[in-house]
Amino acid sequence: MKIVVTGGAGFIGSNFLNGLVPRHPEHSFINLDKLTYAANVRSLAGIAEAPNYKLVRVDLADFAAVDALFAAEKPDLVVHFAAESHVDRSIVGPRDFIDANIVGTFNLLEACRKHWPRGHGLLHHVSTDEVYGSLGDTGAFTEETRYDPSSPYSASKAASDHLVRAYHRTYGLATKVTNCSNNYGPRQFPEKLIPLMILNALEGKPLPVYGAGLNVRDWLYVDDHCEAIWTVIQKGRVGETYNIGGRSERKNIDVVHAICAILAEETNQPAAKLTGLIKYVTDRPGHDLRYAIDATRLASECGWTPRETFETGLKKTVRWYLDNPQWIEDVRSGEYRKWIDRNYGERTAHP
Ligand code: NAD
Ligand code: DAU
Repeated sequence: MKIVVTGGAGFIGSNFLNGLVPRHPEHSFINLDKLTYAANVRSLAGIAEAPNYKLVRVDLADFAAVDALFAAEKPDLVVHFAAESHVDRSIVGPRDFIDANIVGTFNLLEACRKHWPRGHGLLHHVSTDEVYGSLGDTGAFTEETRYDPSSPYSASKAASDHLVRAYHRTYGLATKVTNCSNNYGPRQFPEKLIPLMILNALEGKPLPVYGAGLNVRDWLYVDDHCEAIWTVIQKGRVGETYNIGGRSERKNIDVVHAICAILAEETNQPAAKLTGLIKYVTDRPGHDLRYAIDATRLASECGWTPRETFETGLKKTVRWYLDNPQWIEDVRSGEYRKWIDRNYGERTAHP
């Protein structure tokens, strides 16, 4: 099978490819990525030379480039991770989110519609629980929860989910959608809470906690998310939506304390020295209070349950950042961006 993975140089996409490319030599994987600031080719070093893998630089907002890639590669399956993904950036500059998440998904759907005869192909759309908005103190999002996005990021993801379902209903395109809670793990860009806190604590920099630190996220280890997506691709119903989550709800301040405790143990320093770096800062506008996922449908229909607990996953994550100083250095120095410029220059379209 030919599998196009969009956004495969980002956090979740690179973990997905690192897991699947060696395990499935019978499939070829084409990583379609614009290589934005959030992409990191070092995250793909382990599979870069694999005979069943290649990377092509394509901007999904450029329909001609997407169309050419489909004509050249004739994929059977598309796993769609590519997106602008950071809520804070969407508040400062929403336009990129409209281009990548809405126009990009639309172009991908158009390419599927043009190149796949009825009955051929599957588009798996990777989405977020943020489309459902915010919960109060109780309850959890189900697949029937009303869409109520709060940020430009979540609104753009909501729009992309609607487009995917509309293409299924209107054109009979085979699609599946998954909506997942907060991921953490190796290779996550240090603008997101967990890697930001790990790297700042290692450097003795302030640990900025928004508001009172009482917002709750439902954390899932990235490999569990990737396995859930692969499971839905194999066993999920076409046209259906599945929520993915770990039932690991934590207040942000508790997450930061847990990171400090692990780092203190790993680096032999008093935890109080690290927690002393915590700084409460101005809250995010439109900050959703609480997310929690009810993944009953996925468990009962497809048999998926997460392997990691938050405690085991967080330890592995901290260890990964401690063991990969070169990855961190590349992100900090922009070294990986120089590699992209050397290798791709202005070339964005598929040859
Ligand atoms: P990321 O920001 O780490 O990576 C995104 C990737 O998409 C990058 O490699 C980037 O270069 C690529 N990309 C961006 N715009 C593109 C475009 N126009 N054309 C082609 N490629 C483009 O994101 P992530 O955290 O890995 O998230 C991946 C997907 O999973 C996103 O769709 C996101 O909404 C969803 N998701 C993320 C989380 C999470 O906690 N990170 C949770 C649930 C769902
Ligand atoms: O729920 C799934 C979503 O999780 C994904 O769709 C998004 O792509 C992903 O970025 C993530 O969104 P969040 O906004 O929840 O993640 P972030 O890591 O930015 O923030 C997590 C929580 O921590 C949130 O309540 C805001 C808070 N926070 C974040 C940062 C970066 C802080 O308190 N301080 C910070 O410096």
